[in-house]
Amino acid sequence: DRTLRVALLGCGTVGAEMVRLLHEQSADLTARIGARVELAGIAVRRPGRDRGGLPVDPALFTTDALSLVKRDDVDVVVEVVGGIEPARGWLIEALRAGKSVVTANKALLAEDGAALHAAAAEGGADLYYEAAVAGAIPLLRPLRESLHGDTITRVTGIVNGTTNYILSAMDETGAGFAEALERATELGYAEADPTADIEGFDAAAKAAILASLAFHTRVTAADVYREGITDVSAADVASAAEQGCVIKLLCLAERSGDAVSVRVHPAMIPRSHPLAAVGDAFNAVFVEARAAGELMFYGRGAGGAPTASAVLGDLVAVGRHRLSGVRAAGESAYADLRVRPMGQA
Ligand code: NDP
Ligand code: HSE
Repeated sequence: DRTLRVALLGCGTVGAEMVRLLHEQSADLTARIGARVELAGIAVRRPGRDRGGLPVDPALFTTDALSLVKRDDVDVVVEVVGGIEPARGWLIEALRAGKSVVTANKALLAEDGAALHAAAAEGGADLYYEAAVAGAIPLLRPLRESLHGDTITRVTGIVNGTTNYILSAMDETGAGFAEALERATELGYAEADPTADIEGFDAAAKAAILASLAFHTRVTAADVYREGITDVSAADVASAAEQGCVIKLLCLAERSGDAVSVRVHPAMIPRSHPLAAVGDAFNAVFVEARAAGELMFYGRGAGGAPTASAVLGDLVAVGRHRLSGVRAAGESAYADLRVRPMGQA
C-alpha cells in the first residue's frame, strides 16, 4: 500500500476546502495517484481556532511550518498561506530537499519565481502553481505545456475576482464600493489584506506570472505597470453605462519583437465584448498565439472550492510523478526579452 505524505501549510479559505475535498474524494484520489494521500501535518498561525468541524485530527496542527517541511516522512508540500516571507524560506527548503511543491502563492511567484525554479532544479523536485492565477481555470498548464510548440503574442483578460465582483455589483445593483468589498471578503475572494486586490497588486502579480510563462522570460511584479480600482467612482460606472460600456480591471501582456510590456488598469469595455459579460468573481483570459489563433479561458477565479480544485489537480500530478520517478519539465529555457516600460516604443 503506497502513501503520499503531504505537509499542508495554511488551513484558511483554500486550505480548509482542500482538506474537505481530500476527505470526500479520498478513494478516487488514491486511484488516480496510485497512492493514498495522508496529511503529515498542517501548519497554521492559530492551532486552537474553531475550524467548523473540519474532518481532520486536531493533533496534526502545528505552528512550526519549517520543522514540518523538514520532516523526512514528508513527500510533498502544499503551501496556501500566502505572502513573501516566511513562505519563500519554507518552499526553498522543501524544493532543495527534493520535495515537490504545490503553491497558490502568486505574490511570491511574481516576486521571486526564479529562486523557486532554481531550488526545484537543484533538488530535482516539481514546482506546480496552477491555483496562483485565475483560480479554478486550467490556464498555466496549457501555457506551460500544451502551447509550448507555438509562439504566444498576447495575453489579455480579467484575473482578479474581488475587483470584478466589486465592479459588477456597482454596475448591476448600484452597490457601494465598500459594501461590495465587504461581501467579496465574506465570500472568501479577497486577499488577507484586500489592498492587494483593489490597488491591483494581485492582478499585477498574476500578469507577471502569465507573461513569464507565455513569453518564456522573466517578468516580476515590479515590471508591471499597475493601476487599481480605488479611484473608480459610482459616477464613473454610471457614465460608462450611459455610453454602453462597463468598467473592468484588465490585464494585458504583449510581446513585440524582443520586448514585452505588461500592464494592469481599469478600462471601459463595450457591453457587446465577451469580457463585459464576465460577472461575479469569474475570470476570463484570451491568449493569442501565432498558429493556434485566439483561445479563451473562462471560469471561477477565486473562492475556496474553485482554488482547492486547482491545488488538488496539481497534487495529483506531482504525486503521480513522484511515484513513477518521472519529473515534469521545469522552467522552460528563457529568452532574455526586454521589459518595456509603459509608453516607450
Ligand atoms: P487565508 O488568510 O484564508 O488563510 C491563510 C492560512 O495561513 C490560515 O490557515 C493561517 O492560519 C495560515 N497562516 C498565516 N500565517 C502563517 C504562519 N506564519 N505560519 C503558519 N500558518 C500561517 O488565505 P487563503 O486561503 O484565502 O489564501 C491562501 C493562499 O492562496 C494565498 O497565497 C492566496 O493569495 C492564494 N489564493 C487564494 C484564493 C482565494 O480565492 N482565497 C485564490 C487563489 C489563490 P490560521 O488559520 O490559524 O489563521
Ligand atoms: N484575491 C484573489 C482574487 C484570489 O480576488 O482574484 C484569487 O487569486
